[in-house]
Amino acid sequence: MFNTAEIRDVKKYFTSGGFFGPARDVVKAVDGVSFYCQKGRTFGLVGESGSGKSTIAKLVAGILRPDHGKVTVHGEKDIVFQDPYSSLNPRMTVRQIVVEPLFVRGVDKQEISERAEAVLSKVRLDAGSCFFKYPHQFSGGERQRIAIARSLIKEPDLLVLDEPVSSLDVSIQADILNLLKDLQEELSLSYLFISHDLRVVEFMSDTVGVMKSGRVVEVADSEALYRYPKDPYTKKLFEAIPSF
Ligand SMILES: Nc1ncnc2c1ncn2[C@@H]1O[C@H](COP(=O)(O)OP(=O)(O)O)[C@@H](O)[C@H]1O
Ligand SMILES: [Mg+2]
Repeated sequence: MFNTAEIRDVKKYFTSGGFFGPARDVVKAVDGVSFYCQKGRTFGLVGESGSGKSTIAKLVAGILRPDHGKVTVHGEKDIVFQDPYSSLNPRMTVRQIVVEPLFVRGVDKQEISERAEAVLSKVRLDAGSCFFKYPHQFSGGERQRIAIARSLIKEPDLLVLDEPVSSLDVSIQADILNLLKDLQEELSLSYLFISHDLRVVEFMSDTVGVMKSGRVVEVADSEALYRYPKDPYTKKLFEAIPSF
């Protein structure tokens, strides 16, 4: 099967500590991680806070460069962050937010408008009623839809979704997850789906990687992982959920 992204033995270390403080500590945020994302499918990454998930998201999205190893993405990629409020410019209208990625590409005016309407309707928002509103006039779920539309207008092959529903009310999470599934099918999108929430990752993913301290300790098909977790750490994560 065709891979949209390949991550090979990637490492990213951060140094913390001040100029004048004690010896600087090295944080091994990502410490030798390999996996791949298949076309039209979802690779889920799950792990506790601080395990290195967002660092991987940024490496795959090209926001960070690996210190070691290689990230290869075949085609266009984009990232959707956890908090749509801080990822959307509050002084821009929805129309401006959504069309911004097209300006740098020299797309003509007529086509810009058509594509903006099309992506908003794909995320089930009505362009007519939201084009000239600002992010604060929308609910959290709607704001995340706007962020997704802004990504879709770039016609990505791969979307990196870093905790895309973690800041939303539980009642709205399923709407966004179902929307993402529908979009994946319609547009053959590949997803790198990241969450600390095992249930959300199970619902979304074909294959799951479990992260701990900068490493992926287990990779398995979603169903197999949830039925027969092998790694002791994965088992521990499941035990932490009461009804598992
Ligand atoms: N820019 C940075 N500078 C220093 N340390 C960082 C930076 N980004 C992340 N880290 C550290 O790297 C580790 C992994 O962080 P992160 O990738 O955000 O984990 P997660 O998304 O799983 O919570 C954490 O210890 C975090 O404090
Ligand atoms: Mg994170």
